[in-house]
Amino acid sequence: MKYTNVLVVGSGGREHALVWKLSQSKHVGKVFCAPGNGGTPDRVPIDPTDFEGLTKFAAQNACFTVVGPEEPLAKGITNAFLSNGLEIFGVSKEAAIAEGSKIWAKQFMKRHNIPTAEFQVFEDHLAAADHVKKKGPPVVVKADGLSAGKGVILCRTEDEALKAIDGMMLEKRFGSSGERIVIEDLLVGEEASYIAIVDTKTRKYIPLASSQDHKPIFDGDKGPNTGGMGAYSPAPIVPEGLEEKIQRDIIGKFMNGMREENVEFKGTIYLGLMISDGEPDVLEFNVRFGDPEIQPIVMRMEPDLFEYLYSCASGRLAEMDDMKWSKQAAVCVVMASSGYPGQYQKGKTIVGLDEAATLRNVVVFHAGTARQNSAIVTNGGRVLGVTALSDTIPQAIREAYRAVEMIYWEEEYHRTDIGKKALKHIHAA
Ligand code: AMP
Ligand code: GLY
Repeated sequence: MKYTNVLVVGSGGREHALVWKLSQSKHVGKVFCAPGNGGTPDRVPIDPTDFEGLTKFAAQNACFTVVGPEEPLAKGITNAFLSNGLEIFGVSKEAAIAEGSKIWAKQFMKRHNIPTAEFQVFEDHLAAADHVKKKGPPVVVKADGLSAGKGVILCRTEDEALKAIDGMMLEKRFGSSGERIVIEDLLVGEEASYIAIVDTKTRKYIPLASSQDHKPIFDGDKGPNTGGMGAYSPAPIVPEGLEEKIQRDIIGKFMNGMREENVEFKGTIYLGLMISDGEPDVLEFNVRFGDPEIQPIVMRMEPDLFEYLYSCASGRLAEMDDMKWSKQAAVCVVMASSGYPGQYQKGKTIVGLDEAATLRNVVVFHAGTARQNSAIVTNGGRVLGVTALSDTIPQAIREAYRAVEMIYWEEEYHRTDIGKKALKHIHAA
């Protein structure tokens, strides 16, 4: 395997976690991050969608590029790099449709018999409203396109559903993303995330460890959805038998389906799953690592991540063995700006990072932070991902919160119950 620099594209907690893990690789020199955040050491002030700037930088600095977020993938960053003869990990624009269009994803799942909620697609708001009136609540109304995680509305009453349809199709609250919508059955159960690195051409996939996110803003899963307020790995709701089923019935069918439809899929597939009575249904596909899920996942990952990403990008994933995972558990608590996912203030000075850094087995991943002279200040909604690795989930929860208690800024907010859901499975086992 060659020795190279790496360019991670993006600026969130996911990207800091990738920088942290890739920096440990024996094959890697410098790890740049564009544009990065207050926690990533080698920042490059280039926007993730400025493909000309990024390709130029990667070529000049002999970088292998790893893409964090979905937006540059959907806009074709991988196509741009490949056409310039540059190596990159991330799916092509054509493959990114698995995340970019919910209608495409649902119809693909139907064509290939992948378990998912029953649904219908609408291009006309009157037909959509008619459907809801006939069918009755509860339903889930989803805008077709990318809408930063906000285009999904769970509707428990007919009125809520009709408002959601009008908001998307008439008021265009999500712009063109909501011109076409999906209305699907509301599934009940517990969510889990399952991520794999895949290459359909060589029919090989490498699963990552299971994980679970905490999407709603408030304790007890109350309030509006966010990008994710905390995560842990492994997820006890995904025992070994279920993992095999997910690999066979979902990842296997996903890869075969992509091959049949002549879409080369080389990169990350993230399955958002609803588990009911031990059976998985797919809520969504993403074509990137989960954030914050990747933060606890990299803490447990034993092998060299660079080897996997580089092998995948260069068509040699089939040579790689399954990853080995620490038997320990990792828990990530997101510290956010008060007001997120709505309006919040930026520029608050963060204190206590040096004290937290003295804790063994705790890593504070930065997300919405920036450097201001010698200080670190808040610069986004999700600010830090405080992640602890310990023997059990309860211990990792305690250690993560111990670190959270050491860190402070004015108007900081975090959930106090991250990982609690795992405990009920552990106690039941
Ligand atoms: P999505 O972006 O499609 O994953 O939806 C975002 C969130 O909405 C998911 O993580 C779930 O919490 C919820 N959700 C989406 N679809 C459904 C469904 N059919 N039933 C219940 N909850 C859902
Ligand atoms: N944490 C959910 C996501 O990355 O989509």
